Amino acid sequence: MSSTKHESSSPTRMQDQSVKHLIQWGDHLSVGNPEIDAQHKEIYEFGAEIYESWRHGVRIGELRLSADRLLKLLRTHFLYEERLLAGIGYRDIKQHVAEHRSMLKELQDMCKHFETLSDDDDSPGGSVLSPNWSVMQFILTFALGHVMTSDMSYVQPLQASRNSEQGTAGSV
Ligand SMILES: [Fe+2]
Ligand SMILES: [Fe+2]
Repeated sequence: MSSTKHESSSPTRMQDQSVKHLIQWGDHLSVGNPEIDAQHKEIYEFGAEIYESWRHGVRIGELRLSADRLLKLLRTHFLYEERLLAGIGYRDIKQHVAEHRSMLKELQDMCKHFETLSDDDDSPGGSVLSPNWSVMQFILTFALGHVMTSDMSYVQPLQASRNSEQGTAGSV
């Protein structure tokens, strides 16, 4: 009997996929500012790394440290981006900052949850944290939901501001 794709042994689960398999990072995610692009990439790479370690059975102690580091990276990045957007008088900054705040809150809550897990709860294979471990969703929200939509919305205003600065500089 030939095998068909439907109803095969087990459906593909999210946790069977690597982040890099789901999202390819590349120039299509560039906002046109090298510093921000580098920060986005670092967050994405680190997020993907955390997710991979979870898939392969991370210990809770290590996970706590990683989540704290991710929180720091995000705080630094958001602050940098918000200053830049304020500097160009970005029209939708309020909404953008609100999204940042909501993502930080989500990650902070995750970090707090990890604090409540004792090392005795630790379980190689990640069963304590699975199957719907929210870091995966969080990374997807950041990469797909925020960078690919909200951050892309400021690309044009940022470019326009740069052009007008260059125009002003050139006219002196
Ligand atoms: Fe942003
Ligand atoms: Fe960003």
